[in-house]
Amino acid sequence: MGEHYCFTVNGALCDTTEDKSLLRFLRDDLHLHSVKDGCSEGACGTCTIIVDGKAIKSCVLTTKKSVGRTILTVEGLSDREKEAFVYAFGNKGSVQCGFCIPGMVLAGKALIDRIPDPSEEEIKLALKGNICRCTGYKKIIEGIQLAAAILRGDAQIETELEKGEDFGVGKRAFRIDVREKVLGYGEYVDDVIMEGMVHASAVRSKYPRARVLEIDATKALALPGVLDVLTAEDVPNNKVGHIQQDWDTMIAKGDITRAVGDAICLVIAETEEILEKAKKLIKIDYEELEPVRNVWEAMAENAPKIHEKGNLCQSRHVTRGDAKKALAESKYTVTQSYSTPFTEHAFLEPECAIAFPYKDGVKVYSTDQGVYDTRHEIAIMLGWEDYDRIVVENKLVGGGFGGKEDVSVQHIAVLAALKVQRPVKVKFSRKESLAFHPKRHPMEGTFTLGCDENGIFTGLDCEIYFDTGAYASLCGPVLERACTHSVGPYCYQNTDIRGYGYYTNNPPAGAFRGFGVCQSEFALESNINLLAEKVGISPWEIRYRNAIEPGKILPNGQIADCSTALKETLEAVKEAYEKNPGRAGIACAMKNAGVGVGLPDKGRAKLVVQNGTVEIYAAASDIGQGCATVFVQMVAEATGLKREQIRNMGSNSEVAPDSGTTSGSRQTLITGEAIRMASADLNKALREVGGDLYQLEGREFFAEFFEPTDKLGSDKPNPKSHVAYGFATHVVIIDDEGRVKEVYAAHDSGKVVNPIAIQGQIEGGVLMGLGYALTEDFPLKDCVPQAKYGTLGLMRANQIPDIHAIYVEKDELLDIAYGAKGIGEIATIPTAPAVQGAYYALDHVLRTKFPMEDTYYRKPQKAGGV
Ligand code: FES
Repeated sequence: MGEHYCFTVNGALCDTTEDKSLLRFLRDDLHLHSVKDGCSEGACGTCTIIVDGKAIKSCVLTTKKSVGRTILTVEGLSDREKEAFVYAFGNKGSVQCGFCIPGMVLAGKALIDRIPDPSEEEIKLALKGNICRCTGYKKIIEGIQLAAAILRGDAQIETELEKGEDFGVGKRAFRIDVREKVLGYGEYVDDVIMEGMVHASAVRSKYPRARVLEIDATKALALPGVLDVLTAEDVPNNKVGHIQQDWDTMIAKGDITRAVGDAICLVIAETEEILEKAKKLIKIDYEELEPVRNVWEAMAENAPKIHEKGNLCQSRHVTRGDAKKALAESKYTVTQSYSTPFTEHAFLEPECAIAFPYKDGVKVYSTDQGVYDTRHEIAIMLGWEDYDRIVVENKLVGGGFGGKEDVSVQHIAVLAALKVQRPVKVKFSRKESLAFHPKRHPMEGTFTLGCDENGIFTGLDCEIYFDTGAYASLCGPVLERACTHSVGPYCYQNTDIRGYGYYTNNPPAGAFRGFGVCQSEFALESNINLLAEKVGISPWEIRYRNAIEPGKILPNGQIADCSTALKETLEAVKEAYEKNPGRAGIACAMKNAGVGVGLPDKGRAKLVVQNGTVEIYAAASDIGQGCATVFVQMVAEATGLKREQIRNMGSNSEVAPDSGTTSGSRQTLITGEAIRMASADLNKALREVGGDLYQLEGREFFAEFFEPTDKLGSDKPNPKSHVAYGFATHVVIIDDEGRVKEVYAAHDSGKVVNPIAIQGQIEGGVLMGLGYALTEDFPLKDCVPQAKYGTLGLMRANQIPDIHAIYVEKDELLDIAYGAKGIGEIATIPTAPAVQGAYYALDHVLRTKFPMEDTYYRKPQKAGGV
């Protein structure tokens, strides 16, 4: 035993002989779980602590370097500070997925200690090392301002807000998860400790495309503490996949890899340290093969087949009327090609799962977007027909944005747990996460849009190519939404849209906030500006003339319902747009809420009266967007019960009915309506017993909501593709240097259930859209990802413009889910094309590629690329 390393943590003296990462020491030895592990690369800021008064990332420090220092984590804040931050962050809506929050709190606290009344600029600078992918930072900055005011004695804590005396629909609701997320005691999977828990991790392919000749685990198996090494031979059914089962759990000896994220074998060991050593002892021989780098190579006649059936993964043809004739007869047409890159979700919480033997099967603690979908994929892998033997329970989910729809760690954790009959944790490193989970599809598309002499659209012809990488993931539905939404929220009837998704050896692409629509709307909205120029009217005017209205027919034939308020969103931003000639860009968007297109998209909810409270059971993942709070609000609205009488029991396949995946902005609408229906029954029963909840003890109220839709290609004259659509218009204003100064984001999402939350959703979506247009990239070299978390180009707190989140609420609303339509996805769609429009207004250079070049944010790049 050598040296002792002594330092103080939260007032207590610590003494260790181990020289290790301080992050690991705080989490593993002291169990201070407010200190989150987001990247272990010094890039994300989730592990921020205060060391001798300064905010520092604990992953870059070691126990040795901490000698003599005074360390503070959120657990060590004074009660007064804890209450100030909880209240301020709840009041301002600073918390979404929560994974960045303890780090933000400490960055804020270190600043407030130094400057008790910090300016907005000072706060932004203090937060610049801490990434938040959910909120757009604005609400966090406001939260820190309010916390500072409380600590100075200039503002008061209003205890009623958190208690939620008035918690109904449309009320400023204090999210139910604020306290646990701010104080860091809320459990994400990585925070769970189980007795006898061991660890597993996959050895992944060295090459994107190579034949696996030999897997030699002899040395690894000989290492004390290694429990087993599993290969494809140990998997009952090796092919998994969310919709198409084309994804090998592990690549078998003799088979060919498809991406660098491919697992070759799975090592199980007593500790993470042994695991890392063992992985290095695995010897794999490969025959390296030429990879397929992009869709053009994938389409080539002699291209190697990435999957047996060929390289075309999915295609769609969406057509109505006669686009060819309409365009031929149009006064003006514009034809232009556009391309967009792979984009990384960059959620702050890397994938993590713990699986353990449970009853006559297995249970998994997961972080995902749909526990029943995860259960389904695991059942396929195991070949089990009795799905109930598999229980999936979500812990807190530290962001998803579409990137946690496919299984990643869950199925291999199950495999290992069943093998060694112990709890097994599988946690991705950030590098593994970047290589493995599906990205936003890159697009190459050519769009032709026509209009008459007044700028009224006549028809659209377009061809869209998606690179879906090594596996299908959600290629089919994402490509379909890109096609169906490429028309925009306008009234015209002649369309011919062809979409193709090709396999390559790149990392897979799949669901990502916007679900294919970010790509196609960029192209369409850019063409609209060019048409406006030809007609001689403004970009605002051409959109207003064509905008969909209630009773009018969308290009897919669906009649717009009474709640449609696109024109209202255009009117809401008109002044801002017109006041900034030559520096403003504008774009509109629509986005379905609910899966639609004839699929059985059901919402289910069960309310159980237990111990004088109402427990909500609905397996609907709250990935940060706040649906768990929305459901409580809906029960409160229907019954008049207080917040403290209603509990959301989370997403757990054993006890909560399947309410579908968190995708397609569907939870508020689809699960929300099931909650409303069940709450109405509960309310009726409650009235019958004079409002005494105790008299309903043990009673259950179940509801299922299903509104049928028509499948794509339906021959009905006016098919109903989706239950609802949200609409939006964004205006982006840049300054003379080309820096984004302001964004006006006007949204029609029907009834706003929680005004605090919707603003944060809009602001977060806008910032993601700005990053997409200007700074974010996921470069690949011969199919190998080149980016680390810190080089993805994620926008930081000191880069944000002034974002004005505006929601328009009509009197006429849908009669489901209190008229709410969902906001998650649409918030991120119109921003990027509006940025393009702003630059075009400034210098008249048409930038057809994201991230845009020759801007304030990005200088011209060398030739090459996608
Ligand atoms: Fe900041 Fe989710 S709340 S990353």
